[in-house]
Amino acid sequence: MQKAASLPLPPADAQAASDTLAARIGESIDAAGGWIGFDRYMALALYAPGLGYYSGGSAKFGRDARDGSDFITAPELSPFFARTLARQFAPLIAQGLPRMMEFGAGTGRLAADLLLGLEQEGRLPQEYAIVELSGELRARQQETLAQRAPHLAARVRWLDALPDSFEGLIVGNEVLDAMPVQLYARIDGRWHERGVARTEPGAAAAFHFEDRVLADADVPAMQRDIPGDHDLVTETHAEAEGFIRAVGAMLARGAAFFIDYGFPAAEYYHPQRTGGTLMCHYRHHAHPDPFLYPGLQDITAHVNFSGVAAAAVETGLTVSGFASQARFLMNAGITELLMALDPSDARAFLPQANAVQKLLSEAEMGELFKVIALTRGLDDGTDASEPLAGFARGDRCHTL
Ligand SMILES: C[S@@+](CC[C@H](N)C(=O)[O-])C[C@H]1O[C@@H](n2cnc3c(N)ncnc32)[C@H](O)[C@@H]1O
Repeated sequence: MQKAASLPLPPADAQAASDTLAARIGESIDAAGGWIGFDRYMALALYAPGLGYYSGGSAKFGRDARDGSDFITAPELSPFFARTLARQFAPLIAQGLPRMMEFGAGTGRLAADLLLGLEQEGRLPQEYAIVELSGELRARQQETLAQRAPHLAARVRWLDALPDSFEGLIVGNEVLDAMPVQLYARIDGRWHERGVARTEPGAAAAFHFEDRVLADADVPAMQRDIPGDHDLVTETHAEAEGFIRAVGAMLARGAAFFIDYGFPAAEYYHPQRTGGTLMCHYRHHAHPDPFLYPGLQDITAHVNFSGVAAAAVETGLTVSGFASQARFLMNAGITELLMALDPSDARAFLPQANAVQKLLSEAEMGELFKVIALTRGLDDGTDASEPLAGFARGDRCHTL
C-alpha cells in the first residue's frame, strides 16, 4: 500500500521510536513463523508497552495537527457532551448507585467535566474509578483533573485490575473502537484471514497484509452469512466482545454506557460494505494504511453493536437503550443546557453552539456515533424507563 503523499513526516525522535516498535513487531512475526493475525498487529501497534500509540508519548487528542494531535473526540470537542451525560447519570446516582467507573479516559476531560456536571446536578458520585491501559494517559488524566476540577480530584482513583463485583455506573467513550480486530477477506468466493507478514528489507513499509485461506469450518458465522460471492474485506471483534463479557460479569447492579461509531450487524455486514471499516488517523488525516508509522498513528474499526449486545445478554445484562448520539443527547437535554448560555454573548455562545452542532449533526458525529446502555437490576423496584431518558425517543434496540 502506498503512503498517502499528503501525510506529514514525523519528527526524528518519533520516527526512531516507531522504528524500534516495528523491529519488535517484526520479532513477534518471526517468532510466530512469519505471520500474525491483524488483531495481534493492532494490539502491538496500539499498546506495546512504552512504544504503542496509546502507551507511547503521542499527543493523540486535540483540535488540529498544529498541536501534534491526530483526532478529536466528543469530550474534547465540547463540555456539553459530559454535562448532558451528567443529566442522564444524575437520577441513576440518586437511585442508590453512587459509584462510577470510566474505561479508557483519554486526557481525563470526560471525567473532569462529568464530575463538574454531576456537582451542578447535586449528584456527585462518592467515587470515580478509571481503568486505563496507558500509563502515559493516566498521568495526563491526573493533570487534567488537577487543572479542571481540583476540588473533585480526590474522588478519582485508578484501578490496575477490574474488581470482582461492581455496583454503579460505567461509561466508555470511543473505547470499543480502539480494541484489536481480526480481518477477513472474501476473494473469488473463498474466505481468508487477513494477517500481517514482514516485507523485504528496503521496501516502503516494514509490513504487508498476507491472506491465509480458511477451512469452511473456521469462517466466522457472521462472515459466512454475508450474501453474494463478490470480493470484500471485513472485521470481527473478539476482544471488544470479550471485554463486554468481563464488564457483564463484574456489573452486579447498575448501568454501562458505551458511546462509539458503528452499526448493528445488518448494516455492518451489509454486502455493499465491501472495504470494511478499518481506519487510521495521523495528524487529522484519515487513511486506510495500518502499516504507516507503527505506534505513531491511531488504528481503529467501527463497532458491531449487535455483537456488543449479544455479549452483554450472554452475561445476563439487559440492553436498555440503543440510539444515535444525536437522539441520545437531545433526549437527555443538550439543547436546554445550551440555551442556558446567553446567545447575545456571541463570543462565548457561537463556539459552544458550533461544537454542539458537530455532536448532533448527521453529517458529523450525530448519526454515525451510537450510545448503548447495558443494565442489570434497574427494573426491580425502580422504573428503568424514566431514568434512561436518553432513549425516551428514537430508541433502536430492535435493530440490534
Ligand atoms: C480513542 S481513545 C478515547 C479516549 C477518551 N475516552 C475520549 O473519548 O477522548 C481510546 C482509549 O481507550 C483506552 N482503552 C483501550 N482498550 C481498553 C481497555 N480494555 N480498558 C481500558 N481502556 C482501554 C485507550 O488506552 C484510550 O485511552
